[in-house]
Amino acid sequence: MSDLLLTGIGHLTTNVGAPIANAAVRIIDGAVVYAGPEADAPEQGRATMLRCDGRTVIPGFVDAHTHLVFAGDRAEEFARRVGGESYSEIASSGGGIASTVAATRAASDEALYQGAAARLRRMIASGTTTVEIKSGYGLNLETEIRLLRLARRLGDDLAITVKTTFLGAHAVPFEHSGDRGGYIDLVIDEMLPAVAPFADYCDVFVEEGAFSVEEARRVFRAASEHGLQARVHAEQLTHSGGAALAAELGAASADHLDHVTVEDASALAAAGVAAVLVPGASYTLRSSQAPGPMLIDQGVTVALATDCNPGTSYFESMGLGISLAVVQMGLTVDQALYAATRGGALSLGLDDHGIITPGAAGDLVILDADSPAHVPYRPATNLVWKTIKQGTVVAGVAAG
Ligand code: NIG
Ligand code: FE
Repeated sequence: MSDLLLTGIGHLTTNVGAPIANAAVRIIDGAVVYAGPEADAPEQGRATMLRCDGRTVIPGFVDAHTHLVFAGDRAEEFARRVGGESYSEIASSGGGIASTVAATRAASDEALYQGAAARLRRMIASGTTTVEIKSGYGLNLETEIRLLRLARRLGDDLAITVKTTFLGAHAVPFEHSGDRGGYIDLVIDEMLPAVAPFADYCDVFVEEGAFSVEEARRVFRAASEHGLQARVHAEQLTHSGGAALAAELGAASADHLDHVTVEDASALAAAGVAAVLVPGASYTLRSSQAPGPMLIDQGVTVALATDCNPGTSYFESMGLGISLAVVQMGLTVDQALYAATRGGALSLGLDDHGIITPGAAGDLVILDADSPAHVPYRPATNLVWKTIKQGTVVAGVAAG
């Protein structure tokens, strides 16, 4: 039995009601049993006491969109892009996703596991307690299964909750160039039945140069027969119709959305589809940020994620994502913090995550700061003093 009592919390953000000053939180066997004023907290009893000395406590970050399992990097491509070449130009000349696919197919399971584990450890150290991981750098049956199995294994081995998403329709691989239909048939007829046991969701990159709305609809219909709900890469580089498709299908999420319209937003809100915004990708590609404030105004549940991948957004810190969302996208500090915690949890159907209230998962972060505003205000400093996963300290100063 584990029993942890946090005392001396200067500022507690629970995501249910207003922040609480001079607070305490108790977590027994992985679940929160008390979150409120310290003066009203139940007696310590057998609990292990952790004094926070006035620090800030918030729910653990929920990173709802990553492409975490891959080999190699694309630093050279990044340098070409900042030198003036576009993402699409590089992709159509054989770089981009295709180059990561080649490196990933050639990598051993052990190399892929170790690379992703290192990234996950950096995530945990920067306060992330739940992460979604997509496949999509295999693009053949063997490698797509490998990526999803590895993602599940990482979730079993490390102190972080992992949800997996099959992204076989990320790009048409070179061996199917000129045969898009054949590749989509392969995704539907062979990959989906084989990967379904290792996936929680199915994603399609709906974009010019990737997949059309009609192609995506076919894949998502088949995925739903295998019990996989949709998450959609939508309106990232152009307005291509992915958001309307997400609304039509009642997807779990529509992601990126840099070019989403007000009409799309109201359809997403009406259909209960979460918007997973990834400001790191727009920052790295030097494109305009998604209209986060407009989506919130339209009543859409907004989540923030890193999109951690070697092409468009190679970082693990949700703190940096929050800072970009506040400074470049125009969310308030409170909106960004909520999106990075509760918003992500809701997009993943994790109703007991992203909040600190009795019955919720005991996943939280102690920040070495007086208030959560320090997170976007000081983006280059890891303010995480300790990360707590299900009531156990898993990272931070003197962890464990
Ligand atoms: O989320 N949009 C498509 N997929 C990734 C990029 C993948 C890559 O460039 O390797 C993204 O930005
Ligand atoms: Fe992505």
